[in-house]
Amino acid sequence: MSLEEIILQIQECKKCRLWQTSTHGVPGEGLANAKVMFVGQNPGSEEDKTGRPFVGRAGKFLTKTIAEFGITREEVYITNIVKHTSPENRKPYPDEVSACLPYLIQQIAIIKPKIVVLLGASAKKTPRVENVKYFEIVHPSAAMRFTKMREKFQTQIAELAKQIK
Ligand code: URA
Repeated sequence: MSLEEIILQIQECKKCRLWQTSTHGVPGEGLANAKVMFVGQNPGSEEDKTGRPFVGRAGKFLTKTIAEFGITREEVYITNIVKHTSPENRKPYPDEVSACLPYLIQQIAIIKPKIVVLLGASAKKTPRVENVKYFEIVHPSAAMRFTKMREKFQTQIAELAKQIK
C-alpha cells in the first residue's frame, strides 16, 4: 500500500456514517518521509471544504506557532485520527474512530516518523508502535482560546523543536 493509495481510499471512504454529512475526506498532507507527524481529532468546516488538514483558525495558529520555533509545515506530515468532519463538529464516536484508525496506522507505517505529536484528547487514542516517540500536547484550538493553554502549547512546541534539531 502506498501513501497515494491510502489517500484515494480515504477520499472514497464509506466505512462509517460521517461521509454522508461531509464534502471531502481529508487524508492529511506533508512530507512523505517526515520526521514529525501531527495528529488532530478530525477535520472542521474549512478542512471539509478544502480537503486539507488544519487550514482553518486552529490550523493557522498551529502553522504559525511551529514556524516561530523553526518548524515548517512542508517538513512535517499533518493528519487526523478521523478523516471526515462531524456534524456540528462533535467529537467522533468510538465506532467512527475504530473504523478510521487503520488509515492512521498505515500512514505511520509508511511515513515512519520519529515523533508523533498528538493534539488534544481525541488524538491520544492513536495506537503506539515501537521506535516512535509520542508527544501528547494541547490542541491548538484550546491554545488559541485560553492563555494558560497557549503558554503550555508554546512550551511543548519549543520542546519538540529542540528534539528534532
Ligand atoms: N482540528 C483538528 O483536530 N483537525 C483539523 O484538521 C482541523 C481542526
